Parts: sequence; C-alpha cells; structure tokens
Amino acid sequence: DLGGHDTYMHKEISEQADAVDRALRGRIDDRFSTVHLGGLNLDAREARTIRRVKILGCGTSYHAGQIGAQMIEELARIPSDAEPASEFRYRDPVVDPDTLYVAVSQSGETYDVLAAVQELKRKGARVLGLVNVVGSAIARETDGGIYVHAGPEVCVVSTKCFTNMVVSFALLALHLGRIRDLSVADGKRIIEGLRKLPGQIDEILKGEEEIKKLSAAYADAKSMMFIGRVRGYPVAREASLKLKEVSYIHAEAYPASELKHGPLALIEPAMPTVAIVPDDDLLEKNRAALEEIKARSGRILAVAHQDQEKADDTIIVPKNEPELDPILMGIPLQLLAYHTALALGRDIDKPRNLAKSVTVE
Ligand code: M6R
Repeated sequence: DLGGHDTYMHKEISEQADAVDRALRGRIDDRFSTVHLGGLNLDAREARTIRRVKILGCGTSYHAGQIGAQMIEELARIPSDAEPASEFRYRDPVVDPDTLYVAVSQSGETYDVLAAVQELKRKGARVLGLVNVVGSAIARETDGGIYVHAGPEVCVVSTKCFTNMVVSFALLALHLGRIRDLSVADGKRIIEGLRKLPGQIDEILKGEEEIKKLSAAYADAKSMMFIGRVRGYPVAREASLKLKEVSYIHAEAYPASELKHGPLALIEPAMPTVAIVPDDDLLEKNRAALEEIKARSGRILAVAHQDQEKADDTIIVPKNEPELDPILMGIPLQLLAYHTALALGRDIDKPRNLAKSVTVE
C-alpha cells in the first residue's frame, strides 16, 4: 500500500519521524539517564568487560555500522570499528573473546552477514544483532540484540531503515556508556537529543520542494564527489551509495582530508561536490576544503547547520547534539537521490541489477 505516494522510496523517506519514534518508544529511562534494550542479553558485568566492538554489515547497513562504531567509541569509550561482513569472513580474522560483535541487517537474511555470524558463533564469540525484520535468520542466530523497528521497507534502496539503525546504535552507545563511564549529564544530553529527532526530521522533510529544485541542477552531472570528515564521512558514503544505486550517476565518497592526496585532480566545473559540513569543532577545516574545491571551479552543495559562503547551494538542517548530527544530515540527501532519479526517469523502487535482500555469496 503506497498510501498516496508514487513510490515506496518516497513513502519510506516520509515515514522516518514515526519510525524513529517507534525505535525510542518504551526504551528511555529518565531516572538513570539511560535506555533499556530488552533483548540485548548482555548484563552489566559483561558489558564492562568488553574491550572492543566490531560491527559487521553490507551496503547501507555497513555505513550505519560505521556511524555506530563512532558513537560507541565516543559515548562508551570502547575502541570500535565497522567492516563489510564479506571482507571480514574471507580474511580469516582473529576472533577475540573480549570483543563484542554486532551484525547489522535490515532483512536479517543477507548471506555474507549470516555466514559471518555463524563463523563467529562457531568460534565462541558473543554476537548481537541489530536487525529490522523480526524473527529473521540473523535475529535468530545471534545471542541477543536490538530490533530497529523501522517497519516494513519495500524499496530496494534503504532509507528509513538506515536512519533507524543509526538511532539504534545511539541507544546501544548510550546504554554501554552509562554502564561504563558516561556521566548522568551526558546521558541526559543524549536523551534530550534523541527526543528532538522526530520533530527535526519532519522539519527537514518540509524542505522537499527546495531539494527537488536543487536536484534539477545536479541531474545532468556524469559524476559527483561526496565529502565529509569523521562523523560526516560515513554520511557522505551513504549519500553517495544512495545516489548511484537509484539514479545511476557515478559518485565517489572521500574523507575531506583525503582530497588533496589524489581526488582533487577530478574537480572541475562538471564534477559537483556534496559536502557534509556540521557546526562542530571541524567546521573550519571543512570550510578550507570547500575553498580548495571552489578554487578549482567545482560546484558545491553543502549540507550544513548554517549557510556556507563557499557553497553554491546549502541545505540547512536543524542542529542536534554533535554525536547525533549524522542521523539528520543524511536525510536531505535521500531526497536529493530520489528527485535526481525521478528527473532521470529511473525505476526508483527496483533499480536495475539489484535485489532487496542478497541471499547469495
Ligand atoms: O538487508 P541488509 O541490510 O542486510 O542489506 C544489506 C545491503 O544489501 C543493503 O543495505 C543495500 O546496500 C541497499 N540496496 C542499500 O540501499
């Protein structure tokens, strides 16, 4: 049921405030400034012994995991990283008993993720799932986990599930943080930020007409560059994946700091750049990157908290807590990918060559 929308992608982008609300519902504990995650199956004593977190997923879920790893490292101070599940499987990794493994998947059926989980279990590791589809194979095979509660996602191009995965990682990071050394004040700060998300998402979605106009200016690009720094980098990667899978425009994502190590050679008027520019302590560094692009006559679309002088166009998103900004900054770029694909007459819900769940190796 499309509920009045022309495509599932549009419907699912529009549903994100409600989806995030569902992910938060019944989980916040104001008394202890933390969250309850019923199915986690990890008691406080075990949570204190974790020395590393390794997140495994594919595609969009891997990108959600990259943001999740940063959140866990920042809030719970546990060294964390994300890796594509297939790479992990094939490189014969050292499986460490003090590492908490987290498998991320919308469908819960992605073969490479499932096989990684099975291999980890066989070696005695503790594996949690961060999954959307209830009762799916990955949900069943993991020791416990978090359902992301995005609701059914039909479009092959994942949007609302990505957002809910990142929100779920924020919950996990807060939970682990408050068992370890995150202060009550910081716990409160993050909870307040989480509560603001649904309203802020609706605010972003109200800007759709503007974004639609912008997409007309970018739809004739043959190739686009996406850049971000630290928290903004996985946002850039996800936005670049969104654009290429639904519009078939070639896109590359780089950390802004890597530009001068090679990709800057690509910048010219026909190669626009989308830059993630939050108002955080890296703002000045990001502005310097915009200047370098402008000096090569590259067109710039910034996603930022305030107008960016060097950018040709800026999409302003509302500010949240810096740790939670990545949740919001990707949303306008889902709309950009959508409207670009629409302008190009693409098959939005079923892009060529792709399947919703990849159950083969
Ligand atoms: O169901 P999963 O989350 O495990 O799927 C993983 C990827 O196949 C998926 O995210 C893919 O990259 C999407 N088409 C992205 O929009």
